[in-house]
Amino acid sequence: MKIAMVGSGYVGLVSGACFADFGHDVVCIDKDPAKIAKLEDGIMPIYEPGLDALVESNVKAGRLSFSTDLPSAIKEAAAIFIAVGTPSRRGDGHADLSFVYAVAEEIGASLSNDAVIVTKSTVPVGTGDEVERILQASGNSNKFAVVSNPEFLREGAAIGDFKRPDRIVIGAEDEFGREVMNEVYRPLFLNESPILFVNRRSSELIKYAANAFLATKITFINEMADLCEKVGANVQDVSRGIGMDNRIGAKFLNAGPGYGGSCFPKDTLALLKTAEDYDSPTRIVEAVVNVNDSRKRAMGRKVIDALGGPDAARGKKVAMLGLTFKPNTDDMRDSPAIAIALALRDAGVDVAAFDPEGMEIAQPLMPDVNMCESAYEAIEGADAVAIVTEWDAFRALDLRRVKELAKAPVLVDLRNIYTPEDVRAAGFTYESIGRA
Ligand code: UGA
Repeated sequence: MKIAMVGSGYVGLVSGACFADFGHDVVCIDKDPAKIAKLEDGIMPIYEPGLDALVESNVKAGRLSFSTDLPSAIKEAAAIFIAVGTPSRRGDGHADLSFVYAVAEEIGASLSNDAVIVTKSTVPVGTGDEVERILQASGNSNKFAVVSNPEFLREGAAIGDFKRPDRIVIGAEDEFGREVMNEVYRPLFLNESPILFVNRRSSELIKYAANAFLATKITFINEMADLCEKVGANVQDVSRGIGMDNRIGAKFLNAGPGYGGSCFPKDTLALLKTAEDYDSPTRIVEAVVNVNDSRKRAMGRKVIDALGGPDAARGKKVAMLGLTFKPNTDDMRDSPAIAIALALRDAGVDVAAFDPEGMEIAQPLMPDVNMCESAYEAIEGADAVAIVTEWDAFRALDLRRVKELAKAPVLVDLRNIYTPEDVRAAGFTYESIGRA
């Protein structure tokens, strides 16, 4: 089956490469000629483990190609995916759908065979209706259906998530749409991935509800962590104790500095907007957004407290280990590290940082932070070391070396990757999250 993927960003590229790996004939399209030229040279525009090899092998096999020319690239495609960005609109938090609608218009103007148009971009409820209206208004005489098929890919684990999904959600309004989508996902029938067919608006809402629920779960455990610190409990034990209840589930109960990334912050805001537009308040999501925002800066204060409070902190140096919003990505969007670095700088603290992948993108976002070649270089002369992102490389630091290099043996572990007893036994003052 021929598939066209419009938008060769994170979602489009991962999805396109995986569809090709399933045996489909895929063309990934993008307006940016520099991006397409690089992809043709095997250079990935994003950091995602395994993606370069997957692209390379499928290009070699002749199943994956790249193009800037939408009208000719969508010819004979049975499914045309729209996977362009839907950033937060400046000012009001609504998802900006101008890229999605522009693609729909272009498809309407150039469609030359029957096809299913699939929105894979994260789009608010009702976007599929508008895409359908745009296609109808184009006067194109080919048969088409507009389907919603949200993605549930985690950065850093996207290929695995695509190939072994918990579920595939398809929002279709007619048999043509359902039939073609069945064909698209047939390769996944073998590993028995459940496909859930629902109506288009439900599918669009499932995406936002899933992300908002996960953001709520994280925020809930983060507040429990604060309470644990006050009452002398251990949040990791609390997570385990509640997560063993199948109705709750163990995942997404790791307390930390607050969620970030390109999805949870943007999607929770967009959901609030939808709720407002339909006069159906979602107060829980509202609270989650506010609690998470204030948490990021509070983490800066936690580090300042470890330095002895605001007065003592001025002029001291902190080594920040990890800048990206989570490991195995170079993504800095809404990373807690940004708010933490800012809070430290505002308090007159010097910051040296190291991140395995994120420093190039991070530097302009935190111009006052001194980016280092290694964790140990950042630690040299530091009055405290703060672990902000749980990269594997930080899980087994040579604590003796850290103690030698740092000015003071203070470790603030915002991801709970160390055991308090071990670190204290090594002679450190140790602060973590939700462990009194
Ligand atoms: C998230 C969802 O997990 C995906 O299912 C979804 O497809 C994607 O958004 C999207 O909408 O495109 P992602 O943003 O890549 O994926 O990252 P997550 O692994 O979900 O982590 C999000 C944030 O939550 C990170 O800042 C992470 O550190 C934080 N987190 C996660 C916690 O603080 N605790 C946890 O237990 C889990």
